[in-house]
Amino acid sequence: MPHRSGRHFLQIPGPTNVPDRVLRAIDNATMDHRGPEFGRMGLEIFEGLKAVFQTRQPVVIYPASGTGAWEAALVNTLSPGDRVLMFETGHFASLWQKMAGKLGLSVEIVPTDWRRGVDPAAVEAKLKEDKQHAIKAVCVVHNETSTGVTSRIAAARKAIDAAGHPALFMVDTISSLASIDYRHDEWGVDVTVAGSQKGLMLPPGLSFNVVSEKARKTSQSAKLPRSYWSWEEMLANNKSGYFPYTPATNLLYGLREALAMLQEEGLPNVFARHARHAEATRRAVRAWGLEILCAVPEEYSNTLTAVMMPAGHDADALRKIILEAYDMSLGTGLGKLAGKVFRIGHLGDFNDLTLAGTLAGVEMGLALAGVPHKKAGVLAALEHLSECARGTAASRKAA
Ligand SMILES: Cc1ncc(COP(=O)(O)O)c(C=O)c1O
Repeated sequence: MPHRSGRHFLQIPGPTNVPDRVLRAIDNATMDHRGPEFGRMGLEIFEGLKAVFQTRQPVVIYPASGTGAWEAALVNTLSPGDRVLMFETGHFASLWQKMAGKLGLSVEIVPTDWRRGVDPAAVEAKLKEDKQHAIKAVCVVHNETSTGVTSRIAAARKAIDAAGHPALFMVDTISSLASIDYRHDEWGVDVTVAGSQKGLMLPPGLSFNVVSEKARKTSQSAKLPRSYWSWEEMLANNKSGYFPYTPATNLLYGLREALAMLQEEGLPNVFARHARHAEATRRAVRAWGLEILCAVPEEYSNTLTAVMMPAGHDADALRKIILEAYDMSLGTGLGKLAGKVFRIGHLGDFNDLTLAGTLAGVEMGLALAGVPHKKAGVLAALEHLSECARGTAASRKAA
């Protein structure tokens, strides 16, 4: 490929654009991971992560993609044949289910049409049926990256409590952490699973487990084999800022910088920014005359929007045209949504003008591909962004 001027628009819903500050931080000499400077950095990072997960519990960091952190959550807490309750909200929830099956767990699946999140009433009903408390864990994907649907975690927690059930509560926040409000402690989550390559604005390669006291206690009697993923050695070493095996040192430099950036902006502002961009994107989709895949407005995702193609038009053909003409990558339809939807990622290091460029690329691509639409999406989004900016300016003036 010859050089293309300007920056590529990486608007898939993760990995996301890595800010220059983070790239510069990664671009430093690798240090001794057993030396004193490393221990100081480790402790700083563990503290910073707690703020992002809104927890006082320990956060385990793996040099792995998100799939590794899924496996760590299961193998640390469960025993062969244990029953787990899972909700098939989309492609990623199905992959987690398949993994649980391969690990020898007995998975009870609650299906959905991939257009809505976990139904808290179904959580309560399933757990109330389980009078013997055979279900050992309830696993939920907070933000289903394949569909653009965000499940209501606080409501799911309430449902578990309403059923009076002792199952562990495990939540995948891979495409919600540091973009959509998420509260490990307040929402009574036992194991949170997360990854580096989305809201944390890092390259892929790190993943996380946040471990509640209950999960840690359960892990002491859990029988699934584990070695690399074992929490105990990790937590023992992490106390002084170190790791039991070679950590991904340069990614940790990047993580320290990303945590500083999130702290400078302030988490509530980070969440509000994502909410603003998501709302502007949805207004654009409706103004184009296209349909949003998520069928439940209170479950709209603030990190990505999956857009349904009109009948007879292929989403991947549109994505190809947009990549070739405008150098922008959009998310493909995954699993049974292949060809039927494209996904606009609006998360991570992203501002109003990045969104404007992204939506302009989609609108021009729809025209180039001959997809029927109205040329009103970008305008609708810009109006919303301007309205929000006017509101911010007015409240600054009043303060
Ligand atoms: C919600 C969710 N869970 C799990 C995964 C799997 O993570 P990874 O591909 O980093 O292994 C992804 C990946 O995009 C995801 O979006």
